[in-house]
Amino acid sequence: MVHLAHQSISDSVSYSQFENIAFLTIQNPPVNGLGDTVREGLYSGLERAQNDSEIQAIVICGEGKMFSGGADIRQFNTPKANAKPMLRDVIKKISQSVKPVIAAIHGAALGGGLELALGCHYRIASSDAKLGLPEVNLGLLPGGGGTQRLPRLIGVEPAARMIVNAAMINSQKTLELGLIDQVVSIDILDAAIDFAKKRLVQGDQKHPVIEHLPLSPSEAQIETIRNELNPKARNARAQRAALDCVAHAGTGDFEQGLDYERARFEELVKGIESHSLRHIFFAEKQALKVKDLTDEVKAFSITTVGVIGAGTMGTGIAMAYANAGIPVTLFEVNQTALDRGLATIRKNYEATGAKGKISPEEIERRIASISSSTNLASIAQADLVIEAVFEDMEVKKKLFLELDHICKSGAILASNTSRLDVNEIASVTSRPQDVIGLHFFSPANVMRLLEVVRGSKTSLEVIATCMSMAQKIGKTPVLVGVCEGFVGNRMLTPYWREAWFLLEEGATPNQIDHALTDFGMAMGPLRMADLAGLDINWVTRKRLAPTRRPDLRYSKVADRICEAGRFGQKTGAGFYKYSPGSRLPEPDPVVDEMIKECALEAGITRRSITDAEIVERCMLALINEACWILQEGIAQRSSDVDVVYVNGYGFPAWRGGPLFYAETLGWKNVYEKLLKLRVAQGDHWAISPYLIAKAEGIASAST
Ligand code: 3HC
Repeated sequence: MVHLAHQSISDSVSYSQFENIAFLTIQNPPVNGLGDTVREGLYSGLERAQNDSEIQAIVICGEGKMFSGGADIRQFNTPKANAKPMLRDVIKKISQSVKPVIAAIHGAALGGGLELALGCHYRIASSDAKLGLPEVNLGLLPGGGGTQRLPRLIGVEPAARMIVNAAMINSQKTLELGLIDQVVSIDILDAAIDFAKKRLVQGDQKHPVIEHLPLSPSEAQIETIRNELNPKARNARAQRAALDCVAHAGTGDFEQGLDYERARFEELVKGIESHSLRHIFFAEKQALKVKDLTDEVKAFSITTVGVIGAGTMGTGIAMAYANAGIPVTLFEVNQTALDRGLATIRKNYEATGAKGKISPEEIERRIASISSSTNLASIAQADLVIEAVFEDMEVKKKLFLELDHICKSGAILASNTSRLDVNEIASVTSRPQDVIGLHFFSPANVMRLLEVVRGSKTSLEVIATCMSMAQKIGKTPVLVGVCEGFVGNRMLTPYWREAWFLLEEGATPNQIDHALTDFGMAMGPLRMADLAGLDINWVTRKRLAPTRRPDLRYSKVADRICEAGRFGQKTGAGFYKYSPGSRLPEPDPVVDEMIKECALEAGITRRSITDAEIVERCMLALINEACWILQEGIAQRSSDVDVVYVNGYGFPAWRGGPLFYAETLGWKNVYEKLLKLRVAQGDHWAISPYLIAKAEGIASAST
C-alpha cells in the first residue's frame, strides 16, 4: 500500500507526490464535504500539479471512510457555499488539464462528490463504493453539473431515473452503466497509481471530457418519467426541477445548461422545502445522540429477542427483528392466537414477496427465524424481551413480575406501551435499571420511528443498547421521557381536542381532514383516529377523567361516537362510515347529528369555519404541547419532536416538523396567536414558558 507524504494545501486538502503522479487528498471529516476550503485546496492543487513539469498525472481522492459525501450541507445559505472557486470552477480547471485527472473513489461519491468525479477525465472505484446524486432527498438538485454531465455519459433515461430516485448505485452497476472506467479490489490509491501509469504509457494527450459527448434529444423519455413522479412526494418540487434540468441538457450549449441548472439549484436551496428537509436530515442524526451518554458507556449486543403477544404489534415487532436477521421467539398464551399471529406474519411476507420485494427463499428464511411458543419460559434466555400485550397497567405489571422471575440476569425488559408509566411497570421488578419502553409504531415492521422511553431508573447501558439496536433494525430511535403518551401520543391529545372542538363549532369531519391533508399531513386527524381505533383512546380518556379539570371545556363528540359502538374502521363506523371490506371513509349524517347534539348541549352556536382556522388551531395545539414537552425535559431537543412527528405521525417532512414549522411562522407570531386563543377560549390554551421564552428570543438554542 502506497504511503503518501501529505502537505497541506488548504485547511482540508493535502498535496502529495508519488513518482510522477500528484495526489490531491480531501481531508474534511466526517464525509469530505466539498466546503469552501476543499474547493480552494483542489483548485490550487490542480494549478500546482499542472505547473509542475515533473507531474504527468493527477489523482483526486478522499481520506477516511469515503471519497466525498457531496457539498458541505452545513454551509448552504451561508457565504461559504458560494465562495469562489465554486465546484464549477474546479471542474473547469480539470477539463482544461492536459494531464489526466483521475477520481479514485472509495466508500462513496455522492452529490457534489460524484459531480466532481464526473468532471474528471477518468473514474475508478473500489468494489464496495456507492455512487449517487441524492440531492433531491434534501429538496435540491445536483447543482455542480450532474444533470448535464450524467445524461451525456450514461444516457438520458438512466441518468434522469438515477437523479429523481436519488439512487445509490454500487460500483459494479456503475461500471455496467458506463459511469466509471474500472472497479478495483485492491487499495484505491495503489489502483489509482496503476491506472495512471497505464494511461501515461498510452501517451494519449487527449483525455475524455464528458461535456464534449453528444446528447440525443429525449422529450418522450423525460415525459414518461415526469408522469411517474408522485406529486405528493416530500421532494416533489426538487424532482420536477431536476428533471427540467436533465431535459434542458439536450436543448442548448453546455455552459448554458450549467447556468440553467445552477439557477434552479439556487431557487431550491432558498426554498422552505429544502430548508425543512435539511433540518430533518440533521435532526435524524442528532436524535441518535443521548446527551448524558459518555464514551465509557458501552452498548451490549442483542443476539436473541423474545416478543410477548402475537397481535398486530407483536407480530410486526417480530418481523422487524426477523428482517434484520435477529432470531425471535414469539410468545402467546393461547395456541389459536399464536397460530393467527404466525399466519399474519406469513401473509404479510407473501404480500411483500408478491410485489417482488423479497424472494421466496428470503421469506422462508425470515419466517424460520421466528420461533413460537405458548410457554413463557421459552423467552428466558433472550437478551431483549418486548411485551406487546393489552394496554392495561395491571396486565403489564403482572407480566413484568413474571418476567422478573423468568428472564436471565442482564436481559432488557421492554414494554411496547404507547402511553403508560414505564416507571410504574418497572417498579414491580427487582431490576428497574433493565426496564425500558420501546414504543413501536404500527405496522411495526414498516414504520421507521421508535420512541425509546427511558424510565427514571433505566441504566445508561440499556439506553445505549436500545438506541444502537434500533438502528440495526432500520429504525430511527428518539429518546423520550416518561409521561402520559410520551412525545407523539401526548401531542395528539390537544390536536384531537381541537379537531373535536372545531366539529362542535361547525366544521365537518371531512372538512377538518381535508384542510389538514391540504396542509400536507399524510392523513387528517379524524380519519387517523378511525384507523387507529377509537376505543383505545376512549379507555385512556376514562382512565384520565378523574384528573381532568372540570372548569376546562371538554368535547363529548368522541365519547358519544364510541358509546354508539363506533370504534373506527374495524367496526365499519367511527367519525365516518365504511362499506363492508372498504377503507374508504364516507361522511355519515348520523355523526353530523351527534356533533350537533354535543354542540347544543355545550351551548355552542355553530358557525362557518375556514380551512385556515382548522389548520391554525390544530398546528398551534401541536406546537404548544411540544413546547410543554421540552419544558418538562421529556424530549432532549426540539428537533427530536420534529423527527417523531415526521416519521411517526405523517407530518409533512417538507415543513420540517411542528417545531421547525413554528420557527418558520416566527415564535412571536405563534405566541400572539396562542394568546388570542387563550383569551377567547380559556385555559386549555395555557402557553408553555418554553414557548414564551422562544417568543422573547431567550430559549436556549440547544433545545
Ligand atoms: N455535508 C455536511 N455534513 C454531512 C454531510 C454533508 N454532505 N453528509 C453527512 N454529514 C454529516 C452528518 O450530519 C453526520 O454529522 P454528525 O456526526 O455531526 O452527526 C456525519 O456527517 C456522519 O454522517 P452519517 O452518520 O450519515 O454517516 P454515514 O457513514 O452513515 O453516511 C453518508 C454517510 C452516506 C454520506 C450520509 O451522511 C449521507 O447520505 N449524506 C448526505 C449525502 C448527500 O445528500 N449529498 C448531497 C449533498 S448536496 C450537494 O452535493 C449539492 C451539489 O450538487 C452542489
